[in-house]
Amino acid sequence: MARFAVNVNHEELSTESPPDRPLLDVLREDFGLIGTKYGCGEGQCRACTVLIDDQPRASCLTPISNVDGKSVTTIEGLASDDQLTKVQQAFIDADAAQCGYCTAGMIVEATALLKRNPEPSRSEILDAMNPHLCRCCGYRNILASVELAAASSEASDA
Ligand code: FES
Ligand code: FES
Repeated sequence: MARFAVNVNHEELSTESPPDRPLLDVLREDFGLIGTKYGCGEGQCRACTVLIDDQPRASCLTPISNVDGKSVTTIEGLASDDQLTKVQQAFIDADAAQCGYCTAGMIVEATALLKRNPEPSRSEILDAMNPHLCRCCGYRNILASVELAAASSEASDA
């Protein structure tokens, strides 16, 4: 066991944990941030995607020891002052969530994409979103939502 300190959604948090425990478990069980979902636990579905120092990563594959002293953003940390981000609003407007299990990971991934590339082509969107599985097969609306967010003049602050 060791103590690990992580900046999560702009808040300094710490936990006592075995060093190889997945970040996903720490977020959900220790910090109560259950928006990030456990899908496969093996890096195959990306439902568990969070931003680590602004890079999208599978939190099920990330040991807590790897994020000690780093910054983590989860789905709960995207909106500010009760204002949804452009990506979040686009997922609502394009009706991109069915059961919603994949949605947090999709939104986090799309947010990272639009920050590094505010005007992605369709193929760039497909490349970025490709690792994400949607068991409801809602890919058409998910793609539409990312394109909708990208089309927004303010997509750069998505
Ligand atoms: S739960 Fe992490 S990739 Fe599936
Ligand atoms: S909306 Fe159900 S898994 Fe994607």
